Amino acid sequence: MEDKNRRSFINMILGGGIFLVSGSVLYPVVKFMTPPEVTEAETSSVLAGTVDTMGPGTGKAFRFGSKPGLLVRTESGEFTAFIAICTHLGCIVQHDKEKNGIWCACHGGLFDNFGNVVSGPPPSPLQQLKVIIQGNDIYVSKAD
Ligand code: FES
Repeated sequence: MEDKNRRSFINMILGGGIFLVSGSVLYPVVKFMTPPEVTEAETSSVLAGTVDTMGPGTGKAFRFGSKPGLLVRTESGEFTAFIAICTHLGCIVQHDKEKNGIWCACHGGLFDNFGNVVSGPPPSPLQQLKVIIQGNDIYVSKAD
């Protein structure tokens, strides 16, 4: 009788140990394999640059929340801003002074400085953002 109790006690300890070891191995594996829940904070407005650092015909990359943004100052001095994601297959676009527009290096898509498609495979214009200039600061917010 005492032997049976001892055996069940040892089995219980071993079972608990195996359970704890399995859990300590499996938990990090499961946590690694399941993507974290990303709650995308709604960005309403960001400081994208300053007027004095952007000459005519230049562009500047910035972060608009979790997305890349692109601020452009045209040759005539006008400011425009976009989500810098190409509407073809989602590559990040950049300002190209020589092309006087916004260039996507992935497949040669070209947009003008107002985000309209000039040439290449992009099917639609870039997503435009609203530019608000306050003194020397250039703020960018979601377009209405
Ligand atoms: S992803 Fe930009 S042209 Fe294809």
